[in-house]
Amino acid sequence: MNPAPNLVLVGPMGAGKTSIGRRLAAKLGLSFVDADHRLEEVTGAAVPLIFEHEGEDGFRMREAQLIAELMQGSAQLIATGGGAVLSPDNRQLLCARGFVVYLMVGIEQQLERLARDRTRPLLADGNKRAKLEALAQARAPLYEEIADLAFDSDGLVVATAVQRLATQLETRWQRAEAA
Ligand code: S3P
Repeated sequence: MNPAPNLVLVGPMGAGKTSIGRRLAAKLGLSFVDADHRLEEVTGAAVPLIFEHEGEDGFRMREAQLIAELMQGSAQLIATGGGAVLSPDNRQLLCARGFVVYLMVGIEQQLERLARDRTRPLLADGNKRAKLEALAQARAPLYEEIADLAFDSDGLVVATAVQRLATQLETRWQRAEAA
């Protein structure tokens, strides 16, 4: 049992952080926040546009600021962007006030889910498979470093993933009411 006031989903693009997160939050009575969507609401700009105008560095700064704000809250299920774990400060904040679930997924499933996607600037050009493999190699250790629980979402429909994850959380995550 690891007490924390929030539940946090980390993992690569196409792992199901948003789709699983939204249904899991409803099931657990948590407010659901998708960090990328919140960033788009706050800035009024879509993620690809932020990348285009401010570069990845600009996006990461905004992402870090948002994570710092979100992690002050409680009773939220926060789906982070796949690169949120790159920053040591983000990792520290996510761990400090979140029970962190690493949603794992295989490359084939990612390619399937992201085949028609036009919203991920990091996959916009070049070979998607090679890019996803490189990202996985660089980031898997960071996801593992902060994970309280690793959950393999590969091949699972959303409803099944939500059900299994909820069952595992019952014995693993203790909700802290801390302000
Ligand atoms: C990114 C993942 C995206 C989004 C941005 C960068 C990444 O979020 O934050 O395009 O670096 O892996 P999802 O993981 O929700 O796709």
